[in-house]
Amino acid sequence: MHTTVTRLTAVVGACTLLSGCANLGGLDLETVGDPDHTTYVKLALNQTESHPSYIALEHFAERFSERTDGRWDIEIYPNEQLGSQQEVLQFISSGAIEMAIVSGTQLENLNKDFQVPNMPTTFTSVEQQMDVIRDPEIVGELFTSLEGSNNVTVIGGFTQGTRNIYTSRAPITSPKDLQGQKIRVQESDMHIRMIELMGGSATPLSYGEVYTAIQSGVLDGAENNEVSYTTQKHSEVAPFYSSTEHLVGLDYMIMRADLRAAMSPEDRAIFDEEWDAAMTEHTTLWDIETKEAIKQAQEGGATFHKADTQAFHDALAPLQDEFLTTDKQRAMYEAITEKAR
Ligand code: GCU
Repeated sequence: MHTTVTRLTAVVGACTLLSGCANLGGLDLETVGDPDHTTYVKLALNQTESHPSYIALEHFAERFSERTDGRWDIEIYPNEQLGSQQEVLQFISSGAIEMAIVSGTQLENLNKDFQVPNMPTTFTSVEQQMDVIRDPEIVGELFTSLEGSNNVTVIGGFTQGTRNIYTSRAPITSPKDLQGQKIRVQESDMHIRMIELMGGSATPLSYGEVYTAIQSGVLDGAENNEVSYTTQKHSEVAPFYSSTEHLVGLDYMIMRADLRAAMSPEDRAIFDEEWDAAMTEHTTLWDIETKEAIKQAQEGGATFHKADTQAFHDALAPLQDEFLTTDKQRAMYEAITEKAR
């Protein structure tokens, strides 16, 4: 199902051979403000076309193009066609592509402050999450923190909803059930520790490789939301889905910082307005698609189980001391959790 090796050969094959590879896609920043010119943008996504992120992005791209009279043309590449999230993040920095949706865990590896919103105890609901990412006082500095170092700016985010554990052999109802279980996590030190504290053993792996790793028995399971569980067909190989509710995850929309800076004020205002509408649409779709995903997984034979959520939350408490290490991080954590009250 995933063609990880062949992905992006068209775009980046040349890129690795040529040094620098800036503007590989032909994007010329000089023409971005030109009213007679169309700017073609490649946006990378690791989800399928039925995922709420793809649907909201498609509508966003349509509206943005329409309202700018065709000055912008955003093409979405789903299914990791342009590479894994780790790869596309680098492609944005090098100028090979322009935009992507990446999980917070990827940005955490560039700036540890991104660990704060990725910490299991930080968010308790999607509402709190959307409230926070729309609050420049809390996230303004964080969202611009990678502009100088990586030419990446964060525009906003989509929720990943609540993440739970699923396994191939039996439900996970309490931390002791995870003993000896090898669970895939995203590429994040904090999430490796998260699974250890929850009782299991963690293996970081990119999204597109999870299905095969579980199918072949290399891993016993993974953790994700119901929508990913079903759209990635993980439900076929790990049919026991248990409501550990250990994390409300967050994806970010990222963009080349120099491209954002080159936008005319008028186009940028339209972009921001339509992006805000996309976040709202995504949040609405999320609930609908979660219910649909559960139904589809059940039809395919997967079963859903109640776990001792409190026991998992208690087990995760040490993460705060271990990963909130600076005053800045602690202040951000306070400001975010304040929004939940
Ligand atoms: C979710 C999230 C993705 C992330 C994936 C993962 O599906 O939306 O951005 O890549 O989880 O677990 O890797």
